[in-house]
Amino acid sequence: MKFPRLYQCFNSVEIKRLYSDIQVAARALVYAEHGDPSKVVQLMETDLPPVDSSSVKIKMLASPINPADINTIQGVYPIKPALPTVGGFEGVGEVIEVGGQVTEVKLGDRVIPATNNLGTWRSHIVCPANHVSPLPQDTPVMIGATVRVNACTAYRMLADFVELQPGDCVLQNAANSGAGQAVIQIAAARGLKTINIVRDRPDFDKLKSYLESLGATAVVTEESLKGKDAAKVFKELPRPKLALNAVGGKSTITLIKLMEPGGTIVTYGGMSRQPVLVPTGSLIFNDVKFVGYWMTRWHDKHANSIEANHMITQLCQWGKSGQLRAPNHKLVPLSDFASALDAVLQPFTSQKQILSFDT
Ligand SMILES: NC(=O)c1ccc[n+]([C@@H]2O[C@H](COP(=O)([O-])OP(=O)(O)OC[C@H]3O[C@@H](n4cnc5c(N)ncnc54)[C@H](OP(=O)(O)O)[C@@H]3O)[C@@H](O)[C@H]2O)c1
Repeated sequence: MKFPRLYQCFNSVEIKRLYSDIQVAARALVYAEHGDPSKVVQLMETDLPPVDSSSVKIKMLASPINPADINTIQGVYPIKPALPTVGGFEGVGEVIEVGGQVTEVKLGDRVIPATNNLGTWRSHIVCPANHVSPLPQDTPVMIGATVRVNACTAYRMLADFVELQPGDCVLQNAANSGAGQAVIQIAAARGLKTINIVRDRPDFDKLKSYLESLGATAVVTEESLKGKDAAKVFKELPRPKLALNAVGGKSTITLIKLMEPGGTIVTYGGMSRQPVLVPTGSLIFNDVKFVGYWMTRWHDKHANSIEANHMITQLCQWGKSGQLRAPNHKLVPLSDFASALDAVLQPFTSQKQILSFDT
């Protein structure tokens, strides 16, 4: 049913007029209104603008679909691009044409966005050269595609809130998420232990083995922690000083119960769509500290900084050495975008949908 969708785009004068003033590459996933992603996003084909002296042309290689992309299309994310727009906040591409005055990147470089709203779900992009950053040579494509959002978030949350020494323990929920998988691996690379909470599911043992293969110290379900098993998890592990919360709701109470008094809980996602629940006593008697984190704000503040460069270099180095693998994923041709957008909204998949642009 993909061709009728395209056919409809080519033949709708209204839609052509609507999109005529935006820079849509050869094939792009565009939306003109907020709503259910697989219903409002359309695959469009138009010409690319010429490359001027300060711009570059990029052939996109891979671009994931993250919760923030979905929330932006739904109109419930704090970033609200002017519509119509091309979806996608992150991805990796290869520079295939360079304007005469460009010094930031060169032909053949693999690049990722340097701005927060590049619109990465398109086969080609022509943009100012400073809207992208080059990756270290030989960075694996899937690391490049997923480094800017989840891997950077995991890196910063493990670095910026609590001083952690090798052997210290970090606790997290939604541990099978893309961000959670990055947390496990970056923590392991730094000699930190991780206690990883996931939702109960039929294939829990398979997921547990997978997360352990990434370096997880312990993998438990929310359900198991309601009973006596909570104590077992900690028998040989130090109490976590840092907990990472991507869920909110009652899951926060579970984190609080397992933390060291005085520990810090960093909330970076709200997958349950419930408010973070905090028992009053945990603030008064346990001195638990709550903070929030948004990678977008960090990127904005630190664009092209030494810290940003150091972080990307380190993550790509771990990617090359195999210490950091891209999240478990399914590579989806651009033409199958609607099923990929629907798949992201399904529970218990533990699989990132990553768009590819070859066909
Ligand atoms: N603040 C930041 O800068 C920042 C940066 C990166 C990511 N994030 C946020 O972090 C979260 C994870 O992102 P991601 O890209 O890693 O996600 P992802 O790979 O798509 O994984 C989604 C995760 O959410 C869990 N989940 C879904 N619905 C849930 C529910 N109702 N209750 C509890 N868990 C639920 C899934 O668990 P199941 O397998 O059990 O379904 C899975 O672990 C998102 O909220 C995202 O927006 C924030």
